[in-house]
Amino acid sequence: MQHDFEACDLTPSAAHLDEIDELRASIDWGPGSWTIGPMLRTGGRVLALRDETGRLAAMGGAAVMAPGGFICNMVVRPEHKRRGMGRRIFNELIAWLQQNGHASIQLEATDEGRPLYEQAGFRVRWHSIGSTLSAPPERGDETGLEVLQTGDWPGIAALDRQATGAERTALFRQLTAWEGFREGLVLREGGSIAGYGLRFANRIGPVVAASPGAAERLARALAARSERGTIATIGHPQHATLWQGLGFDVTPFDARMALGPDLPGDPSMVYCMLNGGLG
Ligand SMILES: CC(C)(COP(=O)(O)OP(=O)(O)OC[C@H]1O[C@@H](n2cnc3c(N)ncnc32)[C@H](O)[C@@H]1OP(=O)(O)O)[C@@H](O)C(=O)NCCC(=O)NCCS
Repeated sequence: MQHDFEACDLTPSAAHLDEIDELRASIDWGPGSWTIGPMLRTGGRVLALRDETGRLAAMGGAAVMAPGGFICNMVVRPEHKRRGMGRRIFNELIAWLQQNGHASIQLEATDEGRPLYEQAGFRVRWHSIGSTLSAPPERGDETGLEVLQTGDWPGIAALDRQATGAERTALFRQLTAWEGFREGLVLREGGSIAGYGLRFANRIGPVVAASPGAAERLARALAARSERGTIATIGHPQHATLWQGLGFDVTPFDARMALGPDLPGDPSMVYCMLNGGLG
């Protein structure tokens, strides 16, 4: 069925962020504005369609993580599904990223979203996993661990680029100003940053490290400071054992999909994602 709803860009205004969270709630997703605000303020875009009453019917987001992009928050209100809204928004976001030179595009696909993305040429890179903390671990050896300071960001950006091939830290820096942010930890080895991890209220991530030993030290420190029920959206399934060993119950999550050339990163260095929306 065709529709003639009007497409519009949403801004990081409080009113638009509330609308975004209301649309997410229509499919029982929790609030997402805590990442969407920073995503919009760092060059990203949220495209939406409104129904005849002006209410949001559908939306999708595109984060800019130069030289790549990440698609997030594809949501169509249940009563408007299967009318082409998701495809229209998705295609516009992909074209916009590509026109702006971001040819390497990734996303975390739900089972419901996957057919649409496959039709656009996306391929599955791996099947991601998520986890929930059931029993916080004891603190371990915290040698080299320090609380993240503003001056650490260039070193964090360099390490994160090695892992992902992309610039993601402008967005992460914004997140550290959010009221739900608890702390960031950096692990220093031989004078340079060998790992970093962020902790929010009820969430750990991202955790990026140069070696499994550095990752374990960081992840343990973050988990030991967290409460039961804390989420760590791990991502690559090869890291299940590390998180299980720290008291996390691991479950299947979405599928990591990609379009265009792979970025020159080392995904095995990403021990935990920020969340499903932004990888
Ligand atoms: C995924 C989602 C955004 C798709 O939006 P939509 O407007 O219903 O999708 P469209 O009508 O544009 O459908 C495009 C094509 O995708 C495929 N598709 C969409 N929903 C599908 C489903 N439930 N099962 C199988 N294929 C599906 C179909 O091929 C469809 O084309 P067709 O209807 O001509 O067969 C929507 O189902 C949704 O909000 N789901 C819940 C949230 C979610 O999982 N989001 C994805 C996050 S990665």
